[in-house]
Amino acid sequence: MANEAIFKKGMSLLAGGVTLITTGTDAARRGITATAVCSLSANPPSLIACANKDTGTAKAIIETGVFAVNVLGENHRDLSMVFAGATGISGEDRFQHGNWAAHAHNVAYLEDAVAVFICETVQQISHGTHYAFVANVKDVILINENETPIAWLGSSFHNLSPLD
Ligand SMILES: Cc1cc2nc3c(=O)[nH]c(=O)nc-3n(C[C@H](O)[C@H](O)[C@H](O)COP(=O)(O)O)c2cc1C
Repeated sequence: MANEAIFKKGMSLLAGGVTLITTGTDAARRGITATAVCSLSANPPSLIACANKDTGTAKAIIETGVFAVNVLGENHRDLSMVFAGATGISGEDRFQHGNWAAHAHNVAYLEDAVAVFICETVQQISHGTHYAFVANVKDVILINENETPIAWLGSSFHNLSPLD
């Protein structure tokens, strides 16, 4: 097995889009900042999202079977820190920050995200400290398509610009 510290160092070089994974509605809302989200298949439209087993969000996704992946833009940096737990705010209190709405699939989503994927879990894989949720995408909301999403690389945020 690779050394954990070297693994973390290597993964810090893999730039990732920054999202909020959210689940539930009203007082049952839970959410975390997450970069471990990737496309799985276009047919059926599906993705994989990974969440630490200890998070309230992972536990809530297991209960609801539904979650939203909210893609963040430059104006969401502070919000991503709230949902990373960096400000000491937990549970539903995190949703006092940001502009939230309830989707028809009974899940909270960020009204001013760059884009939102509404997901229904079809498989839950337990591996080490995390669950990988394999999910079908029930709805895609393109809210601010022209806004550039931010990326997380080497423990800091980056904005993205074309190479030429
Ligand atoms: C940029 C960034 C990306 C993160 N990505 C993930 C992720 O993909 N999966 C995960 O479980 N936690 C990730 N985290 C950590 C969680 O956001 C954090 O542990 C969570 O908010 C704790 O929630 P809790 O209070 O419910 O335990 C990330 C944190 C940051 C700052």
